[in-house]
Order: sequence, then C-alpha cells, then structure tokens
Amino acid sequence: TKSLFKISDLTKEEIFEILHDANAFSCSHKDWQLPERKLVANLFFEPSTRTHFSFASAQHQLGCCVENFSAQGSSVEKGESLYDTVKTFESIGYDALVIRHKSDEYFKELENINIPILNAGDGCGNHPTQCLLDLLTIYQEFKTFEGIKVAVIGDIVHSRVANSIKEAMQILGGEVCFSGPKEWISDSSLYKDIDEAVAWADAVMMLRIQHERHAATMNMGKEEYLKRYGLTKKRAELMQKHAIIMHPAPVNRGVEIDSDLVEASNSRIFQQMSNGVLVRKAVMKRAFGYTFSKEEEK
Ligand code: CP
Repeated sequence: TKSLFKISDLTKEEIFEILHDANAFSCSHKDWQLPERKLVANLFFEPSTRTHFSFASAQHQLGCCVENFSAQGSSVEKGESLYDTVKTFESIGYDALVIRHKSDEYFKELENINIPILNAGDGCGNHPTQCLLDLLTIYQEFKTFEGIKVAVIGDIVHSRVANSIKEAMQILGGEVCFSGPKEWISDSSLYKDIDEAVAWADAVMMLRIQHERHAATMNMGKEEYLKRYGLTKKRAELMQKHAIIMHPAPVNRGVEIDSDLVEASNSRIFQQMSNGVLVRKAVMKRAFGYTFSKEEEK
C-alpha cells in the first residue's frame, strides 16, 4: 500500500513526483479522476478545518465516495481502540483512510492494516501533507529548494509542521532555523534570535501557540507575545524584498502575526491552503498506485 506517514519516508524523487502531480492538477490534469470509484473515509480524532476539508475536496474531485467519521457518536465512545476502529473500516470495504490523531506516531500500531493510510497529523510528530503543500508553495516562489532558507518561528516543540519542514529541507538541500521562546525550541543548534531569523529567511513561517498541547497556561499576554516573538509590521520590514510569509493556519491574528500581514502582498498563507487541495489530490492518487509521471513514461 502507498501509505504516507511522515515526510522522511519519502525520497527526494518521490517528493518531486508528488509535487509534479500536484502541479499537473492545477493545469494539464484539472479534471482527472480515478479510473475506478474508491471508497474513502476521513477519521479526524482532533479538530481540523483545512486538512479535513481539503482532503474531502480532493477526494470528491477525484471521483471518490467520501465518508467523514467522528469519534463522537461512534464505538470509540464504548472504548474501541484506534486499531480496531481502523481494522473495522478495512473489513467493511473502505479502500483508503485519512487519519488525524493526538498520539505521536499512532500509525505504528496500524502495521497490520492493508489499505493505504494517509497521515493528516499525529500529535507533535508529523504532518506530511502540510509539509508537501508548504514545499509546493516554496517551489512555486523560488523554483528550487537548494539553499532556500526557511525560518520557523513560534511553538516549535509542539509543532508537527516544524518537524516535517526540517526533515524535508534536509532531504531537499534547503536550510531551516527555529526561533521563538527558547523553552519551545526543540533543537537549540538551529536557534536564531527572531530579528536575525526574519532577516535571514527566504520564507518566514509563523506558527500558532498550541495551547491544547501545553501542560501549563502561558504566563504572557497576547500583546507581549506579538512584540517579543511575533511578526509585527515593524519586524516584517526586516524581511528581504523577495521573502514570503507562510503560516500553516489556523492563524491567531494579533498573537503570532499582525492581522494586516495575513493578507499582505508577500503573504502566501491562503495560497498554501489552495495548494493543500492539489497535494492531497496527488497523495490520494499515489495511494491508489497512479502517478502522472509514470503514465507519461508509458
Ligand atoms: N494547517 C492545518 O493542519 O490546519 P487544520 O488543523 O485546520 O487542518
């Protein structure tokens, strides 16, 4: 099965193949559909807007039959495990599953599942399709990853997005630095002061504070956080002329980023969301064994 658990499971060639197919969905293959109708389910055990509904949009566009599972009202409430829930979907005829779960690497307990599983986010671990849409956005802008500098700023330690882009840039020859409150930096060797990080980067990627993953409430007001660690209009003036603003969203406007910058001319935040549908079409298609690249080679 062509499951996708983490970005580091992909080779450089596979990443480029997915990005190639995602791009094809925006131009030459806009209306392409799977040759057979596939039954897919989206199992979100954590809240989501973008990932859930861009997967659903991608699946509908590909001609899939789409079901959306909610743990609330399901037998999860009676104590059924993740493995038994997923095994049930496999047994009743589903062809692929998209799963978001709060446990890091939840997919390790699903090794005996024989249908493709696409990871839509595991705890503080991985978010491979977010990473692919981030990569597509960066590639559209700079036409390369070699030497591209990405500054990831904010709640790094709780961020599957930060982990995934770090791994991806290692594979693709780019660079990553981390900034934000020092106690939230997972790898101190990558730390830069916020002003230095903003001036250094080709892409400034701001992150939301993941209050839901913090043991204690934060001892700092929104205004103070924005001033010390956020992208204010004044701090954005340090960015290079060609540099872009990114954010996986949801955005807490006025906390990690000034609200006016969210839709500024150098922001790619909503373009990232549009790209999310394209990369999710590409990974769904890959899950069922199709790639445009292979078709073109035939
Ligand atoms: N970026 C992201 O994963 O957003 P959602 O939580 O809304 O899916």
